[in-house]
Amino acid sequence: MNGSNVKPLVSVQNLRKTYGGEKRLFGAPTPALKAVNNVSFDIAPGETLGLVGESGSGKSTTGRVLLQLEAPTGGDIFYKGENITGLGKAGLKPYRRDMQIIFQDPYASLNPRMTVGEFVGEPLEVHRLAGSAREREDRVAALFAKVGLDPSFMKRYPHEFSGGQRQRVNIARAIALNPAFIVADEPITALDVSIQAQIVNLFQDLQDELGLTYLFIAHDLSMIRYLCHRVAVMLRGRIVEIGPCDAIFENPQHPYTRALLSAIPVPDPDVERNRRPLAFDVDANLPPEDAMLRPVGDRHFVLEV
Ligand SMILES: Nc1ncnc2c1ncn2[C@@H]1O[C@H](COP(=O)(O)OP(=O)(O)O)[C@@H](O)[C@H]1O
Ligand SMILES: [Mg+2]
Repeated sequence: MNGSNVKPLVSVQNLRKTYGGEKRLFGAPTPALKAVNNVSFDIAPGETLGLVGESGSGKSTTGRVLLQLEAPTGGDIFYKGENITGLGKAGLKPYRRDMQIIFQDPYASLNPRMTVGEFVGEPLEVHRLAGSAREREDRVAALFAKVGLDPSFMKRYPHEFSGGQRQRVNIARAIALNPAFIVADEPITALDVSIQAQIVNLFQDLQDELGLTYLFIAHDLSMIRYLCHRVAVMLRGRIVEIGPCDAIFENPQHPYTRALLSAIPVPDPDVERNRRPLAFDVDANLPPEDAMLRPVGDRHFVLEV
């Protein structure tokens, strides 16, 4: 779906995840919710795909199912061209190293009883890459430096850190095993606006330095422009528009994308005073079940309305 000739690092085809809908012994089945409904996209090596949409649109589920932290209801997941769908625990083990996730709440992901140094070094132990205690400490210190934390902080506990610092700790752990791909699930949403840009810059620096590929999830489009090469817009389990960042920002086609864009605050106070967010009534504008993505420009696709 990226339309380029580069072989994708990660690709999903017709990915589906349905919750509920189980048959019951008595009465009607529980109502089924199509959290992810026929989602397809490619991500090229070194690329950042932004995945945006309102809360509940299925972004996190897409990320979890792509990593097979949950089994998909249908569809296929490819990594470096190999279909890795349903491989099982042993089969997925090598891919677990290569594909990492960072969550929204930096404090909830941390272990309050572990020093942050132990926390960052834990994956090295689990995968038996630690070597001696000294080697592990050196490796963790290097990871701290890489994410902009003073290595002397290693012996401290999570509650001693600010939100931005905690997210840096989570990022250090995520890159400990030299992954190629990271799902970042709203990693800046819980942070002060003043800190968000710093963490976005860190993601960018790490991508430049380590050649990382990202699926970067956000509920709105602010910051996305600075980080993403392409953007996919999700609405009620479906991708309604996907395309290069410039096309999405300069030439949005779907009414929902336009509404998301109109909601971004503008730094210029004169412009901001006159900004009128567009309303979009989701329930009145649900995409028809059989709607298809149609090309509207170079690598730019929009769901029929
Ligand atoms: N484990 C689950 N069981 C049942 N419903 C779920 C589960 N996880 C997510 N959902 C539902 O799936 C939809 C998509 O959720 P989610 O992927 O978390 O959206 P987003 O990340 O875009 O906010 C929501 O309606 C949510 O309530
Ligand atoms: Mg989410």
